[in-house]
Amino acid sequence: MKKEVWLCVLLLATVAACKKDSGGGGTTPPPSPPPLVETAPLKSVATFPVAAAGSYGAFMTNATSSAILKRDFNSMTFENEMKNNTIVNASGAYNFNTADAMVAAAQAANIQIHGHVLAWHAQTQGSYYRSFLNAGDPNYNYAKVDSLLKTNIQTIAGHFKGKVRGWDVINEMFSDGPAGTIRNNSNTANANNNDVFVWSEYLGRDLGVKAFTYAADADPAAKLFINDYNLEFSTAKLDSLIAYVAEIRGRGARVDGIGTQMHVNINTNKDAIDNHFKKLAATGLLVHVSELDIGVNTSNAASLVFTDALETAQAEMYNYIITSYMRNVPKAQRYGLTIWGLLDNQSWRYKNGADYPLIYTAAGAKKKAYEAVLNALKSGL
Ligand code: XIL
Repeated sequence: MKKEVWLCVLLLATVAACKKDSGGGGTTPPPSPPPLVETAPLKSVATFPVAAAGSYGAFMTNATSSAILKRDFNSMTFENEMKNNTIVNASGAYNFNTADAMVAAAQAANIQIHGHVLAWHAQTQGSYYRSFLNAGDPNYNYAKVDSLLKTNIQTIAGHFKGKVRGWDVINEMFSDGPAGTIRNNSNTANANNNDVFVWSEYLGRDLGVKAFTYAADADPAAKLFINDYNLEFSTAKLDSLIAYVAEIRGRGARVDGIGTQMHVNINTNKDAIDNHFKKLAATGLLVHVSELDIGVNTSNAASLVFTDALETAQAEMYNYIITSYMRNVPKAQRYGLTIWGLLDNQSWRYKNGADYPLIYTAAGAKKKAYEAVLNALKSGL
């Protein structure tokens, strides 16, 4: 007999022996499932940094989202932990413990950090800063707020010097009503809340010049950004912001880039998305998609069933936006893409099941949107 035939006989005999050994009468165990085919991590296919926002809980204590952050992303923004009212308490004292722990963990995992945020009206110790004001004396207030801003930026940007890749120096300085005007206490909701302080109420258009100058002094190597929302939605707001960046630069301060938050939804106008990237690219500055999330609850219902059709529409929009970024913003100007969170139920838009804007389910499974992001990044544009 040929060698192969002998081998067959041997194999059959072994199988028969195994069957006998199994005791007989038992049911055959089900075949084990095929091994999961792992996709490449997002960061490994991208030509620019791919980031997610992570809170202390998501990054430091939740094993699922922490593993995802470390696997798929090479950069992150702290969702709240570098904001004024996290670092500064109601009496003006600074505490960096939480942010420092996250910086150490990010560095250990080779994750770069984008600093967020230095001058913003929200999540800021408004009551503390207002306690220094003199109601009848705008000149006094101008000088006082300038000095509070300077100390705040120098202390916070100075503390993280060399540890962040860039900073959102100014955030959301433009109002939506009317779109493109500079914020003041009248056009800003809850301007007098404890945690709101509208810097531009007191400093007007000088705010940007001052904030960017103080930030550049405190951390000369960090890339400095102005960041805002609705830029894909309102041409008036986008044009105002771009003109303001030119004004700040014309007055001698350094602005390296513009962050477009992109808290959008599945119906956001695609031409408007393309046009806003084109206008941002035409500035010649860096462009950061800084807080991307894509809502599916377009009617603002209190709760929502996340259907297959919605999941598909969401994936399509993730793909469209990232592809548009890559088509319209030259490689050298792509600072990166930041998705605003990890698991759907960690999103600031989740609100107990009202929306599912991210690319992983609450259990940490990849959604269709994940594959859409991966494919867009892989496109080689
Ligand atoms: C949000 C966080 O995601 C929430 O956890 C927090 O309660 C409120 O702020 N624009 C910004 C971000 O610049 O800092 C905001 O983040 C979302 C809107």
